[in-house]
Amino acid sequence: MSKPRILVARAIFPDIVDRLRQHFDVEDNPDDVIWTPQELAARLADKDGVLTTGSQRIDAALLSAAPRLKVCANMAVGYNNFDVDAMTAAGVLGTNTPDVLTETTADFGFALLMATARRMTESEHYLRAGKWTKWSYDMFAGSDIHGSTLGIIGMGRIGQGIAKRGAHGFGMKVVYHNRSRLSADLEAECKATYVGKEELLRTADHVVLVVPYTSASHHTIGAAELALMKPTATLVNIARGGIVDDAALAVALRERRIAAAGLDVFEGEPIVHPDLLTVPNVVLTPHIASATVPTRRAMANLAADNLIAFFDGRGPLTPVNQPSTLR
Ligand code: GLV
Repeated sequence: MSKPRILVARAIFPDIVDRLRQHFDVEDNPDDVIWTPQELAARLADKDGVLTTGSQRIDAALLSAAPRLKVCANMAVGYNNFDVDAMTAAGVLGTNTPDVLTETTADFGFALLMATARRMTESEHYLRAGKWTKWSYDMFAGSDIHGSTLGIIGMGRIGQGIAKRGAHGFGMKVVYHNRSRLSADLEAECKATYVGKEELLRTADHVVLVVPYTSASHHTIGAAELALMKPTATLVNIARGGIVDDAALAVALRERRIAAAGLDVFEGEPIVHPDLLTVPNVVLTPHIASATVPTRRAMANLAADNLIAFFDGRGPLTPVNQPSTLR
C-alpha cells in the first residue's frame, strides 16, 4: 500500500524529517523557502497531511485547493494561522504542540521582563557604542522585579509558569486576568489573585501578555489601555502580534507614558513597526520564546507524532478541533 503523502512546509530538524520518511512519502523544504499561499496550495494539491510552523495560513481557499488534505500539524502551541471553523467544516483535523514548551516559554517571558525592567539591551548598546566613560548614580536606573506587582493577562499554562516564577522566586505580588478564573487550588499554587483587566492595568508594575490571538483578543492593549498603566510600568508581549497595537505602543514609549516594553511578537512579523525600531526603551526579540534546542526538538517531534498517530488510526495526540466527519 502506498504511504500517505505529507508536506513539511518549513525546514525542521533533518533527523525528524527522516523519522517522518519511515511512515510517509515526504516533500520537505530544506532550504526553508517562504512559499506564497499559492505556492503552498500547489504543493498541497496531492498531499494527505502537512506539518506547519505557525506561519502558513490554512483557510477555506487553501483547503479547497488541497482536496486530499486531512490533517495539519502545527509546530507551535498557538494556532491562529488555522481557520479552525473552515477546517472543521471541511473535515480537516488540526493539532498543536502544548505542554512541551510551557516551562521554556515561561523562562523566556521572565527573562524578557527582567531585561526590559533593568534596561539590559539599551545599556548594552550604549556600552558597545563606546559611550560609557564614567559611572553615574542614575545611569540606566530601571525598576525592581522583586517585591513588585506582576500583572498577567492570559493565565493558561505559560501564564501560570510566569506567575510561579514571580511569586515563588522573586516575592512578587501576582494579579491576573483571564477569560475564566482559575480553580482555588491553581490560584493558591500560583499565589495569584484574579482581578478585572482595568484594575490589573492600573495596579501592576509589570504587565505580561500571554493570551492566544483571536478576533476577541485583537488589540487587548491599545492607546486606552496604555493610558491606564503606571508611567513607571513595563509591558511584555510573548503572546502574538496583534494582541498589542504596536503603533500606539511606540507612541506611549516615545512619550514615556510607560517606562519600557519587551516584545517577542509583532503585528505583521517579521516586519516590525518602524517606530518600535527607533525608540530606545524597548527590548525586541524575533519570536524566540520557545527557542531552546530541546524544546524546539520536542515541538517538532510532537508535530510528527501527531501525523504518525493520525495516519496509524490512533487519533491525534493534541487536536485543536473535532470535525464530526473527517475527509
Ligand atoms: C509560538 O509562538 C507558539 O505558539 O508555539
